[in-house]
Amino acid sequence: MRKFVIAGNWKMNKTLPQAVALASDMREGLRALEEIDVIICPPFLALAGVRDAVQETTIAVGAQNMHWEVEGAYTGEVSPRMVQDLCTHVIIGHSERRSHFGETDTMVNHKVVAAIAHGLTPIVCVGETDDENRAGKTQEVLDRQATQALAGLSAQQAAAAIVAYEPVWAIGTGRAASPAEANDTSGLVREVISRECGTPTAAAIRILYGGSINPGVWPDIIAQPEVDGGLVGGASLIADDFVSLANQTRAAHAASLGR
Ligand code: PGA
Repeated sequence: MRKFVIAGNWKMNKTLPQAVALASDMREGLRALEEIDVIICPPFLALAGVRDAVQETTIAVGAQNMHWEVEGAYTGEVSPRMVQDLCTHVIIGHSERRSHFGETDTMVNHKVVAAIAHGLTPIVCVGETDDENRAGKTQEVLDRQATQALAGLSAQQAAAAIVAYEPVWAIGTGRAASPAEANDTSGLVREVISRECGTPTAAAIRILYGGSINPGVWPDIIAQPEVDGGLVGGASLIADDFVSLANQTRAAHAASLGR
């Protein structure tokens, strides 16, 4: 049985004091959710503060990016060794990294490999753009992104990663994928993983949906059998919404146990 996940990507929002305040606001509401993995991903500068704010809870903290080299002359970058000191998870290959900062599938793979080598759980993002979707290229794009992201990993390493299917057309647009779309496309990603890494890995790996998740649409999406959780942007900046999403995820997990 796959343990469900709800992860908040705060993107480039919140100063250190604001981030600590938001984490503190969520803390009580997220405290009793051991059955699922709850992860919050603040900006780098707030990682230590947020980690301290959620101490002695089961809330995990993740970074939103990192370089793959351990140290060196990479001005402005943050290394896996630095991230590893502060948190347990790291988002890799978010579509905003790919589109605004030129991250390629090869770079994403370097980062995934480095994350695993440093004991971090990568949350690897894949997803097609609106143009690719309209051109009928969704399967091709996801196949390439997922295959290259996980290249070189053992079946066991891949199984411990988390993949987030985030259609680019759904991110920050208020237009979430339909439950059927989220399910079918997550299923396509699982098929690619099955081919590349074997059936046990595909059966174990968590595949999240991301893109305009909010408490109104989430129960129907998380009820889908191929969806094991969510990666939340905008709604993860509102404490009450994120706590609601976490509770909905827990309820769906409990329901799936009886399936
Ligand atoms: P959104 O962002 O929930 O604001 O659409 C999702 C993401 O980018 O991970």
